[in-house]
Formats: sequence, structure tokens, C-alpha cells
Amino acid sequence: MEHEQSRRLGKQRRKRCVILIVIVALIVIVIIAVVLGLTLRQKKSEFESTFFSRCEKFNQYDCKKVWDAFEQAYVNKDPCNVPVEAYDPLIAEVPFKLDCNKTMFWSKTKDVVHGFTAKRSDCFVTLEDTLLGSVLDGLTWCGKEGSKGTFTTGCPKWSECVNNPVRSFWNRASAAFADVACGDVTAMLSGSINTPFNPTSAFASVEVPRFNASRVKNLNVVMVIQKNNISNCTDPSLKNLTQTLDTGITFSCKDVSESRIQECGAKPEIACGACW
Ligand SMILES: *[C@@H]1O[C@H](CO)[C@@H](O)[C@H](O)[C@H]1NC(C)=O
Ligand SMILES: *[C@@H]1O[C@H](CO)[C@@H](O)[C@H](O)[C@H]1NC(C)=O
Ligand SMILES: *[C@@H]1O[C@H](CO)[C@@H](O)[C@H](O)[C@H]1NC(C)=O
Ligand SMILES: *[C@@H]1O[C@H](CO)[C@@H](O)[C@H](O)[C@H]1NC(C)=O
Ligand SMILES: *[C@@H]1O[C@H](CO)[C@@H](O)[C@H](O)[C@H]1NC(C)=O
Repeated sequence: MEHEQSRRLGKQRRKRCVILIVIVALIVIVIIAVVLGLTLRQKKSEFESTFFSRCEKFNQYDCKKVWDAFEQAYVNKDPCNVPVEAYDPLIAEVPFKLDCNKTMFWSKTKDVVHGFTAKRSDCFVTLEDTLLGSVLDGLTWCGKEGSKGTFTTGCPKWSECVNNPVRSFWNRASAAFADVACGDVTAMLSGSINTPFNPTSAFASVEVPRFNASRVKNLNVVMVIQKNNISNCTDPSLKNLTQTLDTGITFSCKDVSESRIQECGAKPEIACGACW
């Protein structure tokens, strides 16, 4: 009798022991899975975290919504088959709202213009100073058919195919930015190249054609004159610009030295209208 009882007790104890081991094993597996999942996800989303950290500097937007609208444009698609319209939902999610007279366009003057607007956001705003422009400035991205991922390597080069995700984004964003331009619009062009108004540039092919005389009064070109200047406001390509412009928009052009632009950036006491 006693022998039988202790055997049963031993059996029960062994059973409990096995259950305990199974439970501990399950807990360990769950912890490993969670840790692995977190580290894998963090590794996968370097692009995504850049996107979010840049986005979060603009407090007034829901960055998760912006990301979702962005992603749907190219994810799970052939990276040479992302047309400009793919970004329509993104533009709808984050519409450009601009103060009249502050819109600044540029062509081949990226460093000069951004060095300036970074200090004088009270005067001018470029596309790259807006949420969408600043979040994606300098980045490369694409999707792949059959994948939910965002890739930053192996993406088509700018000129490799017209409908690539990066090029289509910038063309769509430039068009939307030009659509809302109003009042006095400014553009910085370069006097250090042969054709300051180049028909293949985004400024000539996407932006200028969308300026609408019902919104835009004047287009003021600032020709940036550097030491290696080879052209200025007398350049014949500017004739083409005035011909492309919607009738009713007046045009002006002023040669301004790079040093004057830098001075205006450095001295906030200079009124915006007195920079050049
Ligand atoms: C834009 O500038 C013009 C003068 O150049 C001025 O008459 C107009 O009121 C300005 N518009 C805004 C919204 O500041
Ligand atoms: C300007 O806008 C008006 C009305 O919004 C439109 O009818 C016209 O076609 C536009 N012009 C250009 C050049 O886009
Ligand atoms: C370049 O700049 C110098 C000094 O401002 C000026 O004398 C010259 O005419 C300019 N050349 C052109 C092609 O604009
Ligand atoms: C503008 O450029 C032309 C040549 O393209 C040059 O003859 C002229 O001196 C330049 N004007 C200025 C003010 O630099
Ligand atoms: C002006 O535009 C025409 C047609 O778009 C082009 O053939 C010509 O080369 C352009 N001229 C300049 C000086 O850019």
C-alpha cells in the first residue's frame, strides 16, 4: 500500500516537472521570437527610420499616415513602372500650403539656394524645405514585385528608366509645388552654365508650364553669378522661358552675386525684399 502510494506520488511529481519544463521552454521560445522580431525589423527599416525622424521634425503631420501613402506608390511594383500618378495619394495626404510671395524654385543652384533658405525661412521656401521634400531629399528607394519591402540598393538609376520611383516622386512633387505657387514667384538659376534655362530641367519641363496667371503675378529670376560666370540675364535661353510662361505673368531677371546672397542669408536684419 505504502509502496503503491509513493509510486503514484512520484509519477505525479514527474508529470508536474514535465509540464513545468514545457511551460519554461515555451516562454523562452516566445522571448527569443520577440527579440529576434524586433532586431530584424529594426535592421530592415533604416530607410524607414530616416523617413520618420525627418518627418517628426514637422509636428503637424501624422507620419504613419504619410508613410503609408508614400509606400503604396512603389511597394510590390516593378521599379521601372511607377508613374508620377502613383504619388497622387501622397500629395493628397500632405498637400502643399504656401505663403504667397515665398515660393522659391531653382535649377542647378541647389547648394546656394538651400544655404540661403535654411537661414532665411522667413523669406523663401523651396520644395526641399517642405515636409515631403525634406523627408526624401537625397534618398533612393524602390520596391520589388512580390515583396512588401522598401529597398535602397539595386534601384534603377535616375536615367535608367523614366518611370522609376525616385524620379516620378520628384516630378510629381515639383508639379504640385508649382501648382500652388502664387503672387511673386522667385527662381534661382545658375550663371555658371551655358544654358541657365535648360529645357530638360525639372524647372523648365515640369514647373514653369504649371505656373498659372490666375495665381502667379510675377516670375523673378535671380541669376546666381559666381566667379566662374559664363552667362547672365541676357542669355537667349531666357527668351524661351518668357515664351513658355502663361500670358499675364510678368517676368524679370536680376544678376546677383553669390556673395550678396550669402550676405543676405547671414544678416536677418536685411529685409527679404532688399536681398537683391
Ligand atoms: C506679395 O507681394 C506684393 C508686392 O510685390 C504685395 O502687393 C502682396 O500683398 C504680397 N502678397 C502677400 C500675400 O504677401
Ligand atoms: C489656369 O487656371 C484656370 C482656372 O483655374 C484654368 O482654366 C487654366 O487652364 C489654367 N491655365 C494653365 C496654363 O494651367
Ligand atoms: C562675369 O562677371 C564679370 C564680373 O562681374 C563681368 O565683367 C563679366 O561680364 C561677366 N561675364 C558674363 C558672361 O556674364
Ligand atoms: C552678360 O553676358 C554677356 C555675354 O553672354 C556679356 O557680354 C555681358 O558683359 C554680360 N553682362 C554682365 C552685366 O555681366
Ligand atoms: C529654345 O527652345 C527651342 C524649342 O524648345 C529650342 O530648340 C532652342 O534650342 C531653345 N533655345 C535656347 C537658347 O535654349
